[in-house]
Amino acid sequence: MTVKSGYSPLTRSGFGAELDGLDLARLDEAMVDEAMDVFHEAGGLIVIRDQGHIEPADLLEFVTGFGTPEGNEKYDPGFLVPGYPDVLRIGNTKENGRYTSLFIQADPPPLLWHMDDSFRHPQPVGSCLFCLRTPPEGGETGFAGMTAAYEGLPEDVKERIASIRTVHSYNHLNELLRKKNPHRPPLGEALLAQFPPIVRPLVARHPETGRKSLYLPLCHIESVEGLEKAEGEALLKGLQEHATGAAYTYMHRWRPGDLVVWDNRCTLHAPTPFDDSRHERLMYRLTFGGRQIAGF
Ligand SMILES: [Fe+2]
Repeated sequence: MTVKSGYSPLTRSGFGAELDGLDLARLDEAMVDEAMDVFHEAGGLIVIRDQGHIEPADLLEFVTGFGTPEGNEKYDPGFLVPGYPDVLRIGNTKENGRYTSLFIQADPPPLLWHMDDSFRHPQPVGSCLFCLRTPPEGGETGFAGMTAAYEGLPEDVKERIASIRTVHSYNHLNELLRKKNPHRPPLGEALLAQFPPIVRPLVARHPETGRKSLYLPLCHIESVEGLEKAEGEALLKGLQEHATGAAYTYMHRWRPGDLVVWDNRCTLHAPTPFDDSRHERLMYRLTFGGRQIAGF
């Protein structure tokens, strides 16, 4: 079986690929390598459907081909799949009135496009979600391809932003979320000390492919080095508008058995809300580490 003969692009810019004919319960090294090649060629997003029969061990084995699974020590152990501490349950499932999965309700639009934890170093280089249960509507996940978006910029804009650096801050994100949800507490001293603001390039070079992409999780960026606040904000907002345009974005409507893997170094993602009072959603999530973006 050749994976490359069985995949189709998910956007007109070529960002994202859906792979056909893969059975993750019968993995071999060549399949993982080929899936990895498509993953990189497609700018860091693959979708594999109809895997409802696989076990957490299959998922773990597949994802290990992409990077080193990160632990979930910061989460309630009750949210982890028994025997698989690298696999976190995300959703709104409950037992005896207690959540058995990590529930984070998404805000209504505008979408909160982001790259996970860009405010820490090393950052997670990718994640995957595997769908077990999904509501009939809502609960989708949006993805935006930052390599294709960068390549689609006019040359004069590429030149203008070539050496710009931005300041990423967990506190900035938290304050932004607090505006929408005043019950969310401010970051305490310990978290502020653990996650001081860090500087990142606006144009990142991918360590595996060498391709450039926009590094633009706007909700994490508190300022642009060397620019006045308003000028920096206008620049980033304009770039985000371009980068989350139809050509570069894909909205995944989940079905049980879907697996989606994304590269956190060159894609944005965003959740959408669903009616959690009426419906259940359950995903397995694995996050993996690896080589960081160049220039950092
Ligand atoms: Fe995320």
